[in-house]
Amino acid sequence: MNSSFFTKIEIWYEAYGRDLPWRNTKDPYLILLSELILQQTQVCQGTDYYLRFAEKFPTAEHLANANEEEVMRMWQGLGYYSRARHLHAAAKRIASEGCFPRDYTFVRDLPGVGEYTAAAIMSFAFDEPYAVIDGNVGRVLARYAGISEPIDTTQGKKLLRVLADEMLDKQRPALYNQAIMDFGALLCKPAAPLCESCPLAENCQALQQHIVDKLPYKSKRPTVRDRYLTYIYARTADEKTVLRRRGRGDIWQGLFEFPLIESEKPLTIAEAEEKIKDIFHVTEFSLHFVANNVLHQLTHQRLHADLYILELPTVEEKEERHPIFDESRKEIWLKESDLDHYALPRLLEKLLVKIKHYDNTR
Ligand code: ADE
Repeated sequence: MNSSFFTKIEIWYEAYGRDLPWRNTKDPYLILLSELILQQTQVCQGTDYYLRFAEKFPTAEHLANANEEEVMRMWQGLGYYSRARHLHAAAKRIASEGCFPRDYTFVRDLPGVGEYTAAAIMSFAFDEPYAVIDGNVGRVLARYAGISEPIDTTQGKKLLRVLADEMLDKQRPALYNQAIMDFGALLCKPAAPLCESCPLAENCQALQQHIVDKLPYKSKRPTVRDRYLTYIYARTADEKTVLRRRGRGDIWQGLFEFPLIESEKPLTIAEAEEKIKDIFHVTEFSLHFVANNVLHQLTHQRLHADLYILELPTVEEKEERHPIFDESRKEIWLKESDLDHYALPRLLEKLLVKIKHYDNTR
């Protein structure tokens, strides 16, 4: 039964699958690179990042030898920077091996590599019979087999694993895994799947039971937390500004941002002004409210950002720092024109656009 399943999917893939740059290589390092990028973003945006990384760091040695700031800057815009750190650490580990070991345990132990990514690397690079399960594959299998268990429970995951291993084309795991992922992404889509042109329609349990739009069942929706951030963009008379580096244990570890006040609710302008005076210890300043409630969605958090520009006199000589990056420094004064040398979270890039707009309309 499974040979007709995988044969149909592979035939479909030969006709309709996407030609993506990481599919034209068997290099396990490049496949790791693509998979870590694709954990973060859609194929469309991920392609540009992949091509840039692969050009700049064509081997694990190149990436291992890069400095962390450079890697972070190239990752900028993908978000969740601990993934970039994992990628860098993985490259160091691979480089220290001399060549990439064809060994599941080694691959699975690499930083940032979970069960899915390990199976992707082992199959795509080495044609080893490991079945991948990502969201797309889970949906195809759950619908085809009519899995009535939520697939995010321990029991559901076990069922899916057994089924995925059974359905795998063990002679052609690289081809099959790519094929079923594309099948899920392009045909067996979450909403409006193309059942009328599906080669599996005849044996699809969900289709026969009219529950395609219900499957796969999930046990819970992730809760989303709202966070209220008031950012202060300082600007001195001689066009310097200040960045702070985010610490551990929260979003954006190691990235830079403007000075920030976080609060339970949005701050009124009067509250913000009071706090800003405290933070900057300033008496001589002018404050401009530039943006209100700029939204930024993370997986489990919705960020609401307000933005002020704080105009200050020239920073005194003793406070002036030069904009060379130093790992240990938490706060850096720099020329505004040097801001693009620092890795900023995406939300901060949105705020920079607001600042440019404000400057242009003055
Ligand atoms: N998403 C994650 N990995 C992928 C791959 N190898 N091809 C297409 N989409 C993907």
